[in-house]
Amino acid sequence: MPLLFRRVKDLRNHLRSLRCDKGFSIGFVPTMGYLHEGHEALIRKSKVQNDVTVVSIYVNPTQFGPSEDYDRYPRDLERDMALCEDLGVDVVFAPPDEEMYPMGFQTEVYVKGLSDILEGKFRPGHFKGVATVVLKLLNIVQPDRAYFGEKDYQQLKVIETMVRDLLLPVEIVPVETVREPDGLACSSRNVYLSKEERESALSLYRSFLVAEDLISKGERRAEVIKKKMEEFILSHPHVTKVDYVEITDPDLRPKERVEKGDRILLAVWVGSTRLIDNWKVSL
Ligand code: PAJ
Repeated sequence: MPLLFRRVKDLRNHLRSLRCDKGFSIGFVPTMGYLHEGHEALIRKSKVQNDVTVVSIYVNPTQFGPSEDYDRYPRDLERDMALCEDLGVDVVFAPPDEEMYPMGFQTEVYVKGLSDILEGKFRPGHFKGVATVVLKLLNIVQPDRAYFGEKDYQQLKVIETMVRDLLLPVEIVPVETVREPDGLACSSRNVYLSKEERESALSLYRSFLVAEDLISKGERRAEVIKKKMEEFILSHPHVTKVDYVEITDPDLRPKERVEKGDRILLAVWVGSTRLIDNWKVSL
């Protein structure tokens, strides 16, 4: 079993001895738990690149809005620990709230601009919560490398920007999105979907294939591609709303004409579940 720590102080002491006495490199995978194949890919990459792999499991309250799914977010530490053991994780950090947000907590990290577009428009304050907790976790673990999935592409960009701007001594390693065999991006939130909703949720992935097909036939106008994707997604039962479909360059600047390497990002409600996904245009 991996060593399980609940307290910042205990984890710090343990990692200090691995880092300083043994000279081990440390890889860090921050998660909110309910681990799946997407998390697994991050952990496997860390295992290859580092002597020690630390996984944090913490459902961070400050990145959820008041009407969001914080209370019903799936949690199962026992199952997560068993999976971490199978994967050879060395250390799990699963702190209680009072350890991460002590009384009188006043400081937030705000990555301007990037935090206010796309997801940020629909989830005000979300990236402030993410950046703040990730900076705190990086300060606790002090890893050589930290692993983030492209599944949450905007989150990856926010973290990369924070690390660059605040001169944090860590390498951010991106990991490609892991999908189920039929194309649905792995997500802890997929457990919310009924069988029928899951079928409709496939429309997110399939809409990227619709886009690729249009592009391969010569279409380059972002407006046209976005409209066709949205129509396609909305034609599925249980899809209640498309929050956005956007086409940007790799740094999340909107594009009018699509090129290889651009990103297509979307957020869609299927029943009462909000799903996000994104795609790199391959041409
Ligand atoms: P969580 O949603 O648990 O995701 C943890 C990490 O796994 C993130 O870097 C995310 O991008 C990655 N991930 C999730 N699904 C993936 C998939 N299908 N393929 C590849 N990577 C995937 O993201 C968070 O938690 C939180 O915001 C966190 C960074 C832990 C801060 O609270």
